[in-house]
Amino acid sequence: MIRAVVEGIGHGLPERVLTNADLEKMVETSDEWITQRTGISERRICGPDETALTLSVMASREAMASAGVQPQELDFIVCGTVTGDFQFPSTSCLVHETLGAGSAGAMDVGAACAGFIHALDVAAAMIETGRTKTVLVIGVDVLSKFVDYTDRSTCVLFGDGAGAVVLRARTDTERGLLKTVMLADGSGSRYIQCDLGGSRYPVGASWSEGKTAKVFMNGSEVYRFAVTAMGDACCRVLDLAGLTPDDISLFVPHQANLRIIQSAQKRLGLPDDKVLINVQKYGNTSGGSIPLGLYEAQKEGRLKENDVVMTVGFGAGLVWGANLIRW
Ligand code: ACO
Repeated sequence: MIRAVVEGIGHGLPERVLTNADLEKMVETSDEWITQRTGISERRICGPDETALTLSVMASREAMASAGVQPQELDFIVCGTVTGDFQFPSTSCLVHETLGAGSAGAMDVGAACAGFIHALDVAAAMIETGRTKTVLVIGVDVLSKFVDYTDRSTCVLFGDGAGAVVLRARTDTERGLLKTVMLADGSGSRYIQCDLGGSRYPVGASWSEGKTAKVFMNGSEVYRFAVTAMGDACCRVLDLAGLTPDDISLFVPHQANLRIIQSAQKRLGLPDDKVLINVQKYGNTSGGSIPLGLYEAQKEGRLKENDVVMTVGFGAGLVWGANLIRW
């Protein structure tokens, strides 16, 4: 069997840090409220010249260097994002140009905070069917440019960031992506929305009046959904693989809110040392969150070859899903 093995990983973060103390000066909030309700202390925010492309390129170059892969060796680039540089062309095409990826194909996958989970499975499927050998998979979002910094219920949550992995085809190993589940429920689409700029409400159209390009989120509905969705996706992917939570070496959940992570951890019965948490440093980086978590885990020596790692995420759509990877 052909397996899609992670052979390199990288990350991309903006320099600028926005702390809870900074937010206290911008909206009526407090460090205490944000920390208690979300677990977030600070997040990284892009400057005017930093975009989904610049973060993606940073992460991709590091991932390719660690895999020992040259841009010309890539067969495909898949980028999970909902905050690309433009409506079109895709961010993956901009990455292709910047890296000089030769004859590789490129496309974006839009699944919000579960973007990387989806992108990884799409890339692995291309490898497992023998159509590609080497695929760059990116998860990136720059939500700070879509957040309303007068809306205290959303602006404290989000940060910017990217992660990338190089997947390679191998036939001599049990390592690689084992299983993925990807789920959706469009009836919850109104709970997280960014209205302006699509074909429903084009910028400048008379019927778009009153619509904005800023994130609207019904926090309590999303919270309710997230708590169920995280456990649901994890149980389904474990069932598919015939594994139990005891088989998991490390759990790398989407970093939206510490309380949501802890409820999933409790449902799975996982001890603290098996759960990657970095939400305090970066907030919710949407599509960047899971590859950033994997990157930090690897860097801190918490992920070793043949460990089984489980990711899980949820987001606008509504969508949710999980990957099981033998590292
Ligand atoms: N500072 C102080 N008070 C605040 C703030 C703030 N930043 N934000 C809201 N409040 C107030 C509210 O106005 C409310 O006041 P009221 O009782 O007087 O009306 C009170 O705090 C409680 O508000 P709740 O919304 O009930 O607070 P909750 O405990 O649910 O926490 C939160 C809110 C953190 C947004 C939570 O609902 C959450 O994390 N939801 C999930 C969001 C998420 O994960 N989104 C990810 C998907 S995004 C994507 O896919 C791109």
